[in-house]
Amino acid sequence: MVNPLAILGTPTRVYKRHQPGARYFGCGERTGELEKTGTHQLFWNIDPPRGHTALQNNLYVSIPFTMVMADGQAWGLFLDSPARVEFDLAHEDPQRSWFGAENGDLVYYVFCGPTPQAVLERYTELTGRTPLPPLWSLGNGQSRFSYETAEEVRALARAFRERDIPCDTLYLDIDCLDGYRVFTWDNTRFPDPEGLLSELREMGFHVVCIVDAGVKVDENYEVYTEGRERDLYCKTPQGDDYQNAVWPGVCVFPDFTNPQARAWWGDLHQGLLDAGIMGIWSDMNEPALFIPLNSTMPSDVIHPGDGKARLHTQVHNAYGSLMVQAAREGLLRLQPQQRPFVISRSGYAGVQRHALIWTGDNSSTWEHLAMSLTQLLNLGLSGVGWAGADVGGFYGDTSGELLTRWTEFGIFQPFCRNHSEKQTRHQEPWVFGEPYTSTIRDLLKLRQRLLPYLYTLFEECHHTGAPLLRPLFWHYPEDTDTYGASDQFLCGDALLVAPITHPGAEYRHVYLPAGTWFHYWAGERFEGPAHILAHAPLGQPALYIRANTAIPFWPAMNYVGQAPADPLTLILYPASGSGNAALYEDTGDGYAYIEGEYARRTILCECDEKQIRVILGEQEGTFVPTCQRLHLELREVLTTPAEINLDDQPIAWYYDHEQRRVSINLAATANEQTIEVLFA
Ligand code: GLC
Repeated sequence: MVNPLAILGTPTRVYKRHQPGARYFGCGERTGELEKTGTHQLFWNIDPPRGHTALQNNLYVSIPFTMVMADGQAWGLFLDSPARVEFDLAHEDPQRSWFGAENGDLVYYVFCGPTPQAVLERYTELTGRTPLPPLWSLGNGQSRFSYETAEEVRALARAFRERDIPCDTLYLDIDCLDGYRVFTWDNTRFPDPEGLLSELREMGFHVVCIVDAGVKVDENYEVYTEGRERDLYCKTPQGDDYQNAVWPGVCVFPDFTNPQARAWWGDLHQGLLDAGIMGIWSDMNEPALFIPLNSTMPSDVIHPGDGKARLHTQVHNAYGSLMVQAAREGLLRLQPQQRPFVISRSGYAGVQRHALIWTGDNSSTWEHLAMSLTQLLNLGLSGVGWAGADVGGFYGDTSGELLTRWTEFGIFQPFCRNHSEKQTRHQEPWVFGEPYTSTIRDLLKLRQRLLPYLYTLFEECHHTGAPLLRPLFWHYPEDTDTYGASDQFLCGDALLVAPITHPGAEYRHVYLPAGTWFHYWAGERFEGPAHILAHAPLGQPALYIRANTAIPFWPAMNYVGQAPADPLTLILYPASGSGNAALYEDTGDGYAYIEGEYARRTILCECDEKQIRVILGEQEGTFVPTCQRLHLELREVLTTPAEINLDDQPIAWYYDHEQRRVSINLAATANEQTIEVLFA
């Protein structure tokens, strides 16, 4: 027989002179430093070996895109090939970069910028943007491989509520399945899934269930026989269904390049939805295979597709994206009124349209905590704004300190979920006792309070492709001192976060870019650019708020919808100058916002020595927020105001000397409101 790989032709390669001063970022899901100048990057999705280090170059997701910064200006390059791709970013030769694909046509795009925002806006115009998530999915999530029985899940749910620790979402890993067969239930351990899920729903939880790519070969298993009858699996060159081992034993693999296979797979989710499952966790979709361990499909496996067969090597990196496309489209068909929640381990450029990415099997080590920062930043720079790493670490045993420090970072991750492997020490928030339990509780409450801020950022991401977590240069491209900052980031434009990633450390260096910044916990004021030493004891991550930028806070809750989000507090640190913030609200699920049922307003703050003026802009959109009261809290105001007016009329206010805070209560209205705080 002819070797099928012989048809592929020669690899493509494009050489470019390395522009002096150009610095590379992005490249999708990467650990190691934020900056990729001088490195060689491989794009080939794998399930990396357990305990991988920052030396591991390619991981589960491949996005052959780089954002380049040179002299304060940004541009981007995307090589569109789901085959094996390499970027040499002035590594082999400092004067030269090259990029190329192992097979297929040479298709690449250059995005001119000149700002990072403009590059991502155009890149995501091409590859697609993150859909608006259901609001509940932004809350805290708890997972483990696995909570093995319905009783264990119930006890877990009760433990969260009894201990007053926020949690919106619980995850069911493969042990809920019948012999790891996807789309089934283990009837002994989960005898009544509908009953269990409706009980959990009553308690305010949403439950997400895992769906792996491999389908167990078993004549008595309908999913397997149906897929075989419809001829929807990947093939060997000899024309048999390709088989390899994964969790359930010998499996076959749907050919997700085939639209019929995607439609079939999407419809299979009906049973899970009927039981009350609210989200789908698509896993092992590189695809990951066990023979040999950590391998993926051989290059000559055939994807029959929709009549146009391709070799696996031609489409490898797209397999995970196509699987979650099937899941998302299925959920949209089956319950069109709800926003699908799909989480994926693997993906290719554009995966953000279908699913969020979680960064797979990390380890419970300080090194992995530090690595996950750059991993999420580079994912964000590559179009995947909705992402998160397993809080506490997956492999190995975490400790109270590591879990707490990890939670300090986790509460700013767009996706916040604690997950750990079988046989490791449990790592639910209360396992390590005090002071960890209370500290984690407070941190998760802070996340829950920040949901209106995060949701507003999600809406921006949905419209413009801007990630939620941003490297400093995103907003300060002219300041080249920011380019190397791998260990701190901006969450939106108003929060600067510098996590502690070493045991025993309470202090760390922080770089504050230009402008006025306030330390969230102590209120200390800083003028950037400045290198400072931050004190960050356990539970108080180094968090700085940009002056004049209002941050919306909800009252503390343990899950979305526990109580009306009333009042909405706007926390603002005024300082000479001006700043702008946005607030976006809608029904939190469904698609009414497309018809205009949303509420967007801007909050402008202008200050000088004589006055602080806050203008709550007129609401755009028809959504009526449930909140009746608005609480404006001006922090670090050093002198008592002489007078405060709302639209030129005096109003009641309160000044707290000790806290240096001005508090003003306002009735929520869709109209513009101007608040003037005057000093003598
Ligand atoms: C994979 C996933 C992990 C999951 C496990 C069992 O290793 O990455 O999150 O717990 O499979 O399903």
